[in-house]
Amino acid sequence: MEPSIVFFLCSLFLVTTSGYVQPLEEGFITGVISEKGLEFAKDLLIEKGIDSILQLQLPEVEGSAKVPLVGTAQVVLSNITIKDIEVNSSSVKIGEDGIVLVVSGATANLSLNWEYSCSSWLIPIGLSDSGTASVKVKGMQVGLTIDLRNQEGTLNLILLESGCYVGDLSIKLDGGASWLYQLLVDAFEGGIASAVEEGISDKIREGIVDLDNLLQSLPKQISLDRTSALNVSFVGNPVLSNSSIAFAINGLFTKKNEPLVSHGYHKGLKLSSACGGLPKMIKVSIHENVFKSASLLYYNAGKMQMIIDELPDQAILNTAEWRFIVPQLYKQYPNDDMKLNISISSPPIIEVTYKDIDTTIFVDITVDVLEDGEVIPVACISVEISASFAAEIVGNKISGRLRMQKFSTYLKWSKIGKLHMHLIQSLLSSALKIVVIPYLNFRLKRGFALPNIGGFEFQNANILYNHPWIAVCSDVSFLGDYYLSQQQLAYV
Ligand SMILES: *[C@@H]1O[C@H](CO)[C@@H](O)[C@H](O)[C@H]1NC(C)=O
Ligand SMILES: *[C@@H]1O[C@H](CO)[C@@H](O)[C@H](O)[C@H]1NC(C)=O
Ligand SMILES: *[C@@H]1O[C@H](CO)[C@@H](O)[C@H](O)[C@H]1NC(C)=O
Ligand SMILES: *[C@@H]1O[C@H](CO)[C@@H](O)[C@H](O)[C@H]1NC(C)=O
Ligand SMILES: *[C@@H]1O[C@H](CO)[C@@H](O)[C@H](O)[C@H]1NC(C)=O
Ligand SMILES: *[C@@H]1O[C@H](CO)[C@@H](O)[C@H](O)[C@H]1NC(C)=O
Repeated sequence: MEPSIVFFLCSLFLVTTSGYVQPLEEGFITGVISEKGLEFAKDLLIEKGIDSILQLQLPEVEGSAKVPLVGTAQVVLSNITIKDIEVNSSSVKIGEDGIVLVVSGATANLSLNWEYSCSSWLIPIGLSDSGTASVKVKGMQVGLTIDLRNQEGTLNLILLESGCYVGDLSIKLDGGASWLYQLLVDAFEGGIASAVEEGISDKIREGIVDLDNLLQSLPKQISLDRTSALNVSFVGNPVLSNSSIAFAINGLFTKKNEPLVSHGYHKGLKLSSACGGLPKMIKVSIHENVFKSASLLYYNAGKMQMIIDELPDQAILNTAEWRFIVPQLYKQYPNDDMKLNISISSPPIIEVTYKDIDTTIFVDITVDVLEDGEVIPVACISVEISASFAAEIVGNKISGRLRMQKFSTYLKWSKIGKLHMHLIQSLLSSALKIVVIPYLNFRLKRGFALPNIGGFEFQNANILYNHPWIAVCSDVSFLGDYYLSQQQLAYV
C-alpha cells in the first residue's frame, strides 16, 4: 500500500475524544485521531485494500472426481481472478489489544478457466473440454487486529490477528456439461472458497508488512537547513483509547545530530482532545516549547543578525546627515559612511496564551562608523518589541496577523555622547508601524501553504489556543496518489 496510508496511521496516534488524556511524556507535538478520523482512515484503507486485491490471481485448484457414466475426471481450475468487490458494511473499533477493523457482508465476483479430461473403459478415446465460469462470493467477512508500538523512536505496525471467511458461493458455467456444474458445486466449492480466503489473507499480511516498512522508513529528523533539524521521533507508545488514538513526537528543533538538553516539561498536565465541540478528524497540538527550541537554536546559531549598509535614502547612512541631531558624531567622524548592525540580544520569548501567540524580541542596534576601512562601533541602542500573532487557516493556507503591543528603546552605551532618545524612539516606532509591521502583515496575509503530508490535506481547520498548547483541529482529505507520486518525486 501507499505511503499515504502511513501518514494516516501516523496521524492516528494521539488522544481520546471522550475527554482528557494524559499527554505522552516529553512529546511536544501530539496528535489525536478521533472516531471520525478513524472512520475516514478505515474507509481509505478498505478502498486501497480492494485496489490491491482486484485482479489478484489465485493459485490453481485441481482435483479428480469419479463421475457416473463419465469416469474419473481430472479438473483444473486456473486463472482464478478476483474481478470486483463490494463492501456492504465495515467498522473500526479500538479493542483491548489494538485497532480492530472488520468488513462484513462483502461480495466479490471471480472469473476462472476450467478444463477437464477424463477417460473410462466406456469412452476409451478420452474426453476433454474447457471453458470459463464466473463465481459470485457472498457474505464475505474480513477482520484484522493491528497494534502500534514505538521502537526507538519509530513506529512498528504489528498484525496481531487476521482472517477472511467466505460465507456463500455460487458458480455460473459458460458452457460445459451439466455433470461438470454439479461437480464444481460439490467438490470444488470448498477449494475455491479457501483459495479466496487464503489469497485475501495473504494480501492483508503483505499490506501490513508494506505499511510497517513505510512507517520504519519515516525519518526521525527533518532537516530544515544546514544546521537545524526538527526531531520527529515518536515518544512513547501510541495511546489507544475507546474511540481514538493518540501519539506524540518529540517535536523540538535541534542542532543536527546533537541531542538537545530537554526542556522542563510540566508532567501530569492534562491535554484535552476536544475541539470546541466540533467533530473533527484529527487534532494536532504543538507545545510552546517547540517555538522556544526554534528560537533558542537560531539564536545560538547566530542567525538572528542583520547588517544594514544600504537604504533607499543612502544619505541617512552618512554622519553628515546627522550633524545637527548628533553633533558629536559628526565632529568625531566627519563625512563617514555608517552601517547598522541589528542583532537579537537574547532568545526571543515566545508564549502561547489563551488567545494568540505572544512574542517579545530584544534587539541591539549598533551604529558602526566606517573610517579608513575600519569599523568603529560608536553607539548601541537596545530595543524591546512585544507583538502578538494570531494565526488563521483558510483552505490549505495558514495566514496570520501581527500586532505590535509594546515598544521601548534605551541607550545601552555611547561613545558620542547623549543621543536624543525621544527622537530615535519615535523614528523607530514610525518605521515599525508604517513600514515593517504592514509589510510583514502583507506577507502573512498572503499566507503560507500548509504542507500536504503523504497526499493528505487539511480541510475546515480551526485553531485553538490553550496555553501552553496551540492546536489545529481539522478534517483531512486525500488528494490521491497523483499528488503523492509528485511529492515522492520532489523528495528524490
Ligand atoms: C485470465 O483472466 C483474466 C481476467 O478475467 C483475463 O483477462 C485473461 O485473459 C485470462 N487469461 C487467460 C490465459 O485465460
Ligand atoms: C458481479 O456481477 C454481477 C453480474 O454480473 C453484477 O451485478 C455485480 O455488480 C458484480 N459485482 C459484485 C461485487 O457482485
Ligand atoms: C448489508 O447490511 C445490512 C445490514 O447492515 C443487511 O440488512 C443487508 O442484507 C446487507 N446486504 C447484503 C447484500 O449483504
Ligand atoms: C469509554 O471509556 C469510558 C471510561 O474510560 C467508559 O466509561 C465508556 O463506557 C467507554 N465508552 C465506550 C463506548 O466503550
Ligand atoms: C529526539 O527525540 C527523542 C525522543 O524524545 C530523543 O530520545 C532523542 O535523543 C532526540 N534526538 C535528538 C537528536 O535530539
Ligand atoms: C554585530 O553586533 C553584535 C553584538 O551586538 C556582535 O556580536 C557582532 O559581531 C556584530 N557583527 C558585525 C558584523 O559587526
